[in-house]
Amino acid sequence: MKILITGGAGFVGTALTSLLLEKGHDVCVFDSLMYGGDQLLSFFRNKRFSFIRGDVVDPDAVKDAVKGCDAVVHLAAIVGYPACRKEPKLAKEVNVDGTKHLINAVSKDQLVIYASTGSNYGRVDDVCTEETPLKPLSLYGQTKTLAEHMLLENRPTVAYRFATAFGVSYRLRLDLLINDFVYRALTEGYLVVYEKHFMRTFIHVHDMARAFVFALENSRAMKGEVYNVGSDSMNYSKEQICNLIRERIDCYVHYASVGEDTDKRDYVVSYDKIKKLGYETTISVEEGIEELKRALEAVKVEKKYSNV
Ligand SMILES: NC(=O)c1ccc[n+]([C@@H]2O[C@H](COP(=O)([O-])OP(=O)(O)OC[C@H]3O[C@@H](n4cnc5c(N)ncnc54)[C@H](O)[C@@H]3O)[C@@H](O)[C@H]2O)c1
Repeated sequence: MKILITGGAGFVGTALTSLLLEKGHDVCVFDSLMYGGDQLLSFFRNKRFSFIRGDVVDPDAVKDAVKGCDAVVHLAAIVGYPACRKEPKLAKEVNVDGTKHLINAVSKDQLVIYASTGSNYGRVDDVCTEETPLKPLSLYGQTKTLAEHMLLENRPTVAYRFATAFGVSYRLRLDLLINDFVYRALTEGYLVVYEKHFMRTFIHVHDMARAFVFALENSRAMKGEVYNVGSDSMNYSKEQICNLIRERIDCYVHYASVGEDTDKRDYVVSYDKIKKLGYETTISVEEGIEELKRALEAVKVEKKYSNV
């Protein structure tokens, strides 16, 4: 198959590019290279890889890019609540208008797989299933919710509400909760944590890439539907994550009673629906922490790998 990945130069997109090439697909990455392009260099040796430097906010560029593709994985976005809060106008243009341009560009025969997010749920007391009403707390969640809705209404789409990613990819992100905590535990030796009881849910970036492959292979059954993507066994409180880190990295954790987490998400998610179709994650949080520890101890990276 020929697959276009918008935002394919990002943290998730590069993991997916690598996996799709490995599986023998033709991959075209369409990306504005907000964070540079070095992470793509190693893919150019593969003749099945191509790259278009373009902006999803430009409708003509999107129209040209989708020509001849069997499927589009739509990742291009201003990602995370801090980045959207910093540039709200840009966030709406990219996350909402960019998705509209994609809807106008693709035909009914082209499958769209959309990287939506569990951020759409917000703060929820019950376990979130795909039926749970969406109450996003941030502009990020609001733009992702709107884009998800527009795609499902208008085009053959598989919409994935992903857990928060962790792990190492070609483009590193150290602003994701587990990646951030491991980085700080290693470099500063301590963590200050607010609202330790907040529940969050996690998935390794490679398992995210596997989920897209799963949708490509099962598109007939999955089209038109939303799926939570993650694992029931990877719903953790922030305190539990700190304990897992402390078992592997010598660090001090201070649970602050004064102050607040500006990320207000607090929710537990059920992943039953996609599990019933046969998709399961393969990499645990413990393995992810060990992977990050090995990588960050060996390569002294600076904390520039963030979306703000
Ligand atoms: N990482 C997570 O934890 C997570 C969880 C749930 C959903 N998602 C979704 O997955 C997708 C990818 O996330 P990520 O972690 O790889 O983020 P990322 O910031 O690493 O990647 C986003 C990519 O989009 C590109 N981009 C931004 N604006 C663009 C534009 N106008 N035109 C073309 N390209 C543009 C950037 O250059 C970047 O390469 C996003 O849609 C995000 O909402 C991510």
